[in-house]
Amino acid sequence: MRYLAASLLILSYLLFCWLCWRNYRRKHRISTSQNINSSDSILIGYASQTGNAERIARKTKEQLTQAGKMVQVFTLNQITPAHLTQASTLLLIVSTYGEGEAPDNGNRFIARTLAAFGQQALQHLQIGLLGLGDSSYQHFCGFAHQLHNELHNCGARFLTDIIEVDGLDESALRHWQYYLGQISGSTRFSDWNQPVYSDWKLIQRECLNPASHGAPAFLLKLQPVPAGIPANYWHAGDIAEIGPGNSPAAIQHFLVRLGRVTIPTNILATRDLVMSEEKLSALKNLDDAALISALPELPHREYSIASAPAEGSLDLLVRQVRINEHQFGIGSGWLTVHAAINNLIRLRIRTNAHFHSPATERPLILIGNGTGIAGLRAHIVNPSRANAKHWLFFGERSAFADDFFHADIQHWLHTGLLTRVDKIFSRDAQIGAPRYVQDLLTPNASEIQRWVAEGAAIYVCGSLKGMAQAVDETLAQILGANQLEILADERRYCRDVY
Ligand SMILES: Cc1cc2nc3c(=O)[nH]c(=O)nc-3n(C[C@H](O)[C@H](O)[C@H](O)COP(=O)(O)OP(=O)(O)OC[C@H]3O[C@@H](n4cnc5c(N)ncnc54)[C@H](O)[C@@H]3O)c2cc1C
Ligand SMILES: Cc1cc2nc3c(=O)[nH]c(=O)nc-3n(C[C@H](O)[C@H](O)[C@H](O)COP(=O)(O)O)c2cc1C
Repeated sequence: MRYLAASLLILSYLLFCWLCWRNYRRKHRISTSQNINSSDSILIGYASQTGNAERIARKTKEQLTQAGKMVQVFTLNQITPAHLTQASTLLLIVSTYGEGEAPDNGNRFIARTLAAFGQQALQHLQIGLLGLGDSSYQHFCGFAHQLHNELHNCGARFLTDIIEVDGLDESALRHWQYYLGQISGSTRFSDWNQPVYSDWKLIQRECLNPASHGAPAFLLKLQPVPAGIPANYWHAGDIAEIGPGNSPAAIQHFLVRLGRVTIPTNILATRDLVMSEEKLSALKNLDDAALISALPELPHREYSIASAPAEGSLDLLVRQVRINEHQFGIGSGWLTVHAAINNLIRLRIRTNAHFHSPATERPLILIGNGTGIAGLRAHIVNPSRANAKHWLFFGERSAFADDFFHADIQHWLHTGLLTRVDKIFSRDAQIGAPRYVQDLLTPNASEIQRWVAEGAAIYVCGSLKGMAQAVDETLAQILGANQLEILADERRYCRDVY
């Protein structure tokens, strides 16, 4: 009996240790992949010949400083190995000259500074890379791509794909501002250039996950004013830039705080009215005209377009962000709560060339989570890819409540638009079972390798925090880090993550 009791005790202890170890691994894996580093000290490096990259570097510094970050700005050639060793976030803003070459003040960075680091030596570094260039040149943003490859060889982690700015395209710069918001944790910035919006009518809004434990996600359908959507109005992968608006209650609250009623509420509808008492009291002394010009416009918000023009509406899948009991996120609050059906929505379509569909026949592996399925859906319904193979990997919380576009997906499997679908729902997982979309990839490694060998492209859309990096690491294990880099260079590995 004593031996039996002792054995049972040892077995229970071993089981306890195993459960602790498994829990630790799970937690550790989630926390390392969920972090986007929001360290307080940020290093900005620019390389600029005629001043554009320098100007954007200064504006970048300004936005981050306003958000309370400590920021240092250097030319690339001024950055030393010690800077890179100490930094955790590096933002690079570089233009390209000649045959894809660096501007003079960045031409020694690779040979002199990066050469000091071996493979994996910069694993601690999180990088955002903005490339300025002109697509009429053969080596569009060539220097940014060269930097990307070199830093990748040193193990640096990239927040997202290179943001390429063609001829100082303002919408690409607004997109850069989005990431500055994510890095600094402050999304209440002013757009450097306000989009020129058009009016679209909100014709339908439906919550797709009413029983979800997570935040509600709404499918919105919009039509242009006047109605009519030509075939090439947008392409799969394009983004809707939205001009948010305030709720009537928020405008009233602002007027009460200000102690005035004379200002036309339609002017206040698109202005940022959230401010400290100190800022508000400075406004109280101004006349109406001065007050209005002192109020910044609400910043734009970006949403992946989920539909094809041929479907007759521009569709978005928007997750509602709730900040506290009384306040929603600026963009999602406007789209999912405050704007009423038939309201006009200010919208601009941003061409997002790096996420456009690949060539008609190329097989496509689509990987995403949550509302990321919106950006993937557009490729599946792209009429020019009706005969191509598509394999969808999708992750959400529960099959019961969060299985977005379930009926569409069944239909596409039936009609052959989708060749394969693999879904995973984290809250439904059994003990020891995989939980997130990245966990679907390894069990399918050999099939993914086969698709890639046959020429498939891989498109990833969804969460920057948690998903993007974990998927990237898993794909690097399956295909090899170099192969993944080659795919990225060939535009066969593209990511739109947020
Ligand atoms: C290319 C791209 C595509 C995208 N596609 C989609 C899509 O298809 N669907 C989708 O839903 N989203 C998408 N997004 C994200 C979207 O643009 C917005 O970032 C998102 O809707 C949240 O914006 P918001 O204005 O509602 O929230 P914000 O007002 O920006 O708030 C966001 C967060 O900031 C913090 N915060 C803000 N104010 C405060 C405060 N006063 N106090 C404390 N914390 C605060 C909170 O953590 C809050 O959760 C995409 C983004 C990009 C860049
Ligand atoms: C002589 C010349 C050569 C250029 N070569 C390239 C090139 O090879 N690839 C590219 O993408 N852009 C090229 N450009 C465009 C610049 O990179 C772009 O104008 C950029 O905004 C300049 O930024 P800067 O003022 O910071 O130098 C070239 C511009 C000039 C004037």
